Amino acid sequence: MSPSRTANSDFDALLSQKVRIVTETLDRLLAEQPEIHEALRQALLYTLAAPGKRIRPALVLWCCELLAGRDNAEARAAAAVIEMVHTYSLVHDDLPALDDDDLRRGRPTCHKAFDEATAILAGDALLTLAFEILADRIDDSALAVELIRQLARAAGPAGMIAGQMADLKAENTVGSIDSLEYIHTHKTARMFRCAAVMGALCGRGSPEQVEALGQYGLKIGLGFQIADDILDVSASSEQLGKTAGKDVTAAKCTYPAVVGLAKAKELEQDLAREAVALLEPFGRRADVLRQLATALLSRRR
Ligand code: IPE
Ligand code: IPE
Ligand code: MG
Ligand code: MG
Ligand code: MG
Repeated sequence: MSPSRTANSDFDALLSQKVRIVTETLDRLLAEQPEIHEALRQALLYTLAAPGKRIRPALVLWCCELLAGRDNAEARAAAAVIEMVHTYSLVHDDLPALDDDDLRRGRPTCHKAFDEATAILAGDALLTLAFEILADRIDDSALAVELIRQLARAAGPAGMIAGQMADLKAENTVGSIDSLEYIHTHKTARMFRCAAVMGALCGRGSPEQVEALGQYGLKIGLGFQIADDILDVSASSEQLGKTAGKDVTAAKCTYPAVVGLAKAKELEQDLAREAVALLEPFGRRADVLRQLATALLSRRR
């Protein structure tokens, strides 16, 4: 086995451990909400249990671990809620009024498996439940408020929703690099920054550490969305677990469409390098975050 293959499988094993923790935490948190309407619960379980990559929650746990030596109950709650908000964003992104997709995480999208109204309400439920959990489960109230603030900003109308709005408005237009960077930074990278910041806050990082990890998150998040655009034109639906080639059909403003595939790959690599450079002050303890930045470059789904 080549050294790089060994490094990849080490990283995959580390990610799998985090995926297990996140899935268990999500299951537990839902089970602890007996008053959720049963029809809604089915839709929530369906979307949350589907095999997502869980990169954002893993980032929360790793940033906490980097600063505190291990993850903690606060980071686990933060990891679970960022996955809830991300999952809600996918359920709504797939609706006929937005990207109109039939396949997600290898399964029929929520509105196909249930119906459109249930998918809208399931999204609403995941978003609000995330904030309820932060308010309930984080005993340190200053930390709870800060986590809520960060998540609301990243997911809200000046964050992810701004990006989703701009993404829709940019359909069928000739995009510029600036507008693309706005869309991708807002719809995706800010949630990655939020994941890193939440983890760093749970690990009781200094303001400088929180800022550096947040910048790292922003860089890999932008790279992640560029990779998503690249995969849309270069991978199969089977591989992705979602419909490939959708961006061209919907005339989306994407990096491959605006700057071409080769330049898009180059930008993605530049961002990974810049992200890794931000980890300098953390020494070897940040190796898993270095591996993450590199692994995202070669991701196939
Ligand atoms: C899909 O995110 C939406 C984007 C921001 C590109 P992921 O690629 O992380 O989707 P899952 O969670 O693994 O399904
Ligand atoms: C979605 O971007 C980003 C979100 C905030 C959900 P895309 O529309 O490109 O994500 P996919 O390709 O459907 O996963
Ligand atoms: Mg979209
Ligand atoms: Mg989409
Ligand atoms: Mg996409």
